[in-house]
Amino acid sequence: MEPWPLRNLVLRTQRLELRPDDDYGLHQLIEVARAGIHPPEYMPFDIPWTDAPDAELGLNTLQFYWSHRAQLRLDNWHLHFLIRLDGKVIGEQAVHGRDFAVTREVSTGSWLGREFQGHGYGTEMRAAVLAFAFDHLGAVQARTSAYVDNEASLRVSRSLGYVDDGTMRDSRRGEPAVQLRMLVTADRFATFRPRWKLDVEGIDECLPLLIA
Ligand SMILES: CC(C)(COP(=O)(O)OP(=O)(O)OC[C@H]1O[C@@H](n2cnc3c(N)ncnc32)[C@H](O)[C@@H]1OP(=O)(O)O)[C@@H](O)C(=O)NCCC(=O)NCCS
Repeated sequence: MEPWPLRNLVLRTQRLELRPDDDYGLHQLIEVARAGIHPPEYMPFDIPWTDAPDAELGLNTLQFYWSHRAQLRLDNWHLHFLIRLDGKVIGEQAVHGRDFAVTREVSTGSWLGREFQGHGYGTEMRAAVLAFAFDHLGAVQARTSAYVDNEASLRVSRSLGYVDDGTMRDSRRGEPAVQLRMLVTADRFATFRPRWKLDVEGIDECLPLLIA
């Protein structure tokens, strides 16, 4: 019996490989974050974790991902897929399910190192986890949110069929800011999904951890 079947889960797209986080990959992810995710004057995240001093960023990052790994439960799970291009980590794509067996809803969040942005990878990795959630977990809808000025993130969502689903007002670096909530159903994704087929390995042993 494999105690952590997520270590054998792999999603493959045309260009990318997505695997749940492991310590070796997290150390590479920290280097990607250190090299920069966004211009210093712009904050795309509701938790401004990239504002941490360089000396703290690494440990904070490890502890954040470890805590989600340690707290994985059927009624509240976070999967953090490390994104690899030609074997090298370039970012991460998170998928969260709360009471998933009942709600059949997931939410997502993601980022890429700056040098890897603008090449379509963000769209490809989001499409990958949507296909995973809809086709392999039986999700009926997926949601996400982004600040209204985060053009790249909103365009990824729109191009995959998400529709606007209201707004949220929060504090960004101490200033009021508005996030757009976005929602896509399995039916809508079916008409927007890319043509390539997602290759999924190692899912069967993971299902008892994610679906009742
Ligand atoms: C958001 C993010 C994951 C998108 O990934 P990406 O690989 O850069 O996006 P893609 O190359 O797939 O492009 C998606 C769309 O956004 C557009 N786009 C990309 N970068 C853009 C930018 N800086 N400004 C405006 N539009 C942009 C692309 O033209 C494309 O539009 P289209 O579908 O209409 O052709 C990535 O930009 C990122 O990590 N940003 C910083 C962190 C972040 O904002 N995370 C999300 C928090 S909600």
